[in-house]
Amino acid sequence: MFGIFFEEINHAGAGGLWAELVSNRGFEAGGPNTPSNIDPWLIIGDESSIIVGTDRTSCFERNPVALRMEVLCDSKRTNACPSGGVGVYNPGYWGMNIEKGKVYKVSLHIRSSDAVSLTVSLTSSDGLQKLAAHTITGSKKSFAKWTKIEFHLKSSQNNTNSRLQLTTSKSGVIWLDQVSVMPLDTYMGHGFRKDLSLMLANLKPQFLKFPGGNYAMGNYLRNAFWWSETVGPWEERPGHFNDAWGYWTDDGLGFFEFLQLAEDLGASPVWVVNDGASLNEEVSTATIASLVKDVVNGIEFARGGPKTPWGSVRVAMGHPQPFKLDYVSIGNQECWMLYYRGNYQKFYSAIKAAYPDINIISSCDRSTISPSNPADLYDVHVYTSSSNMFSRTSMFDNTPRSAPKAIVSEYAVTGNDAGKGTLVAALAEAAFLIGLERNSDVVEMASCAPLFVNDNDRRWNPDAIVFNSWQHYGCPNYWMLHFFKDSSGAALHPTTIQISNYDQLVASAITWQNAKDKSTYLRIKSRGSQCLCGRAGERHQEVWIETDGSNIQQSA
Ligand code: AHR
Repeated sequence: MFGIFFEEINHAGAGGLWAELVSNRGFEAGGPNTPSNIDPWLIIGDESSIIVGTDRTSCFERNPVALRMEVLCDSKRTNACPSGGVGVYNPGYWGMNIEKGKVYKVSLHIRSSDAVSLTVSLTSSDGLQKLAAHTITGSKKSFAKWTKIEFHLKSSQNNTNSRLQLTTSKSGVIWLDQVSVMPLDTYMGHGFRKDLSLMLANLKPQFLKFPGGNYAMGNYLRNAFWWSETVGPWEERPGHFNDAWGYWTDDGLGFFEFLQLAEDLGASPVWVVNDGASLNEEVSTATIASLVKDVVNGIEFARGGPKTPWGSVRVAMGHPQPFKLDYVSIGNQECWMLYYRGNYQKFYSAIKAAYPDINIISSCDRSTISPSNPADLYDVHVYTSSSNMFSRTSMFDNTPRSAPKAIVSEYAVTGNDAGKGTLVAALAEAAFLIGLERNSDVVEMASCAPLFVNDNDRRWNPDAIVFNSWQHYGCPNYWMLHFFKDSSGAALHPTTIQISNYDQLVASAITWQNAKDKSTYLRIKSRGSQCLCGRAGERHQEVWIETDGSNIQQSA
């Protein structure tokens, strides 16, 4: 029942969960035209020694932009290069966290018709201290064609604010593209930052809904998350501008990686597909067919056999077995849009025809769902104040007990009560979740939103997990979720509360079997919006929470 909702917001993925250290590794952040935006790359040297620009000479068809460095100085000539050479550097996402003794895989593409001596180094933020370095050398012929170069760098020091430098003291022209630095030590070896992944794994999430949110939709269709642009070799992915949250993403964290993350966390993937709607544009039902086909192809990518066109792409990426994709959400929260319902029906029919077992989630509310407009689940988003969230503990008490069930895939206390994450917000959300747990016959899944924020780029408050390049912490609502991590699959016991003078207390009781010791545990959770404890010397309130007590061992 309890899972996580991941959205590429606040640099949650690029510069966050995805461990790639180089930002804008393909120099593509300005789009496919030149001059492109090479930010945050910066130049080492002045105009008398180096000219840096972009052109469209890359060897990659879908991301044509490459960096061109024309080095004018040369240590052997009168225009000598400054000590340390000239070139470019990338500070990553607000500084790279480089750790002593750890190994980093560097990968880049290079082309030059000149003799090359290019030093690739991890340095302190001012470039003065070298943590690790490797020099690429070659004759005029060595790199006449685009060449991929890969090597490892082992750091001799710790530095949480490092940068990657590419420098030379040799004149000539060098083109560079797809420059990547990845730590070797990632969660399950699949490219996810370890500390942040463990924060997720410790919640025992039952599902992972991705990739957003507004990120999935985009403000404009051209900037939406189009799954097929995010699969295949990472160097060939075009990347895209996340216009919903205002930053570029290289799409290292693509459709395949989301499915992989779900598998690594033991969670069911829930894929939010773009159903032809962005916040400002819509594809009409008359013209939706190709997009419907694209989504069915996406399911084939996840589940298809090695001989299917898209299944074979997944296999080539190193995952021969199908991913267990059982849930697809048609859109995010676009029920209000003109073509949503018409488009939804097209997606529903095509997906069910090809994959009858897939659970389809509608963005419309329960009242709109009928035999002529079917859905397996309907999505609910709740953003509100703490008092209102607390009162929503009874939100599903009177919901008809017949299908479809709800997925409450985005909920959060927001506004002044929540700030950047407060205890009162967490308590109110706990009361809400207790209500969901008590109604788990009509609510199948729940996840808070947003999950992550890189503290250097807060686009939304509050968020459950805060991090920078090297640190992280959970907000109260993150730690509150730990009270629910044994609930999924547990037995719920009817609970009544007897308490005088308080009506603002909610509780639930579950028993579950511990996989290790096989004993049955009882957990009673209760959340009050007022403090139940008294001042010293006062008589404490007595609270009785009763459950049916069945099947509970004495140790509980
Ligand atoms: O969680 C932040 C945003 O809130 C999501 O992108 C959107 O679905 C919702 O409006």
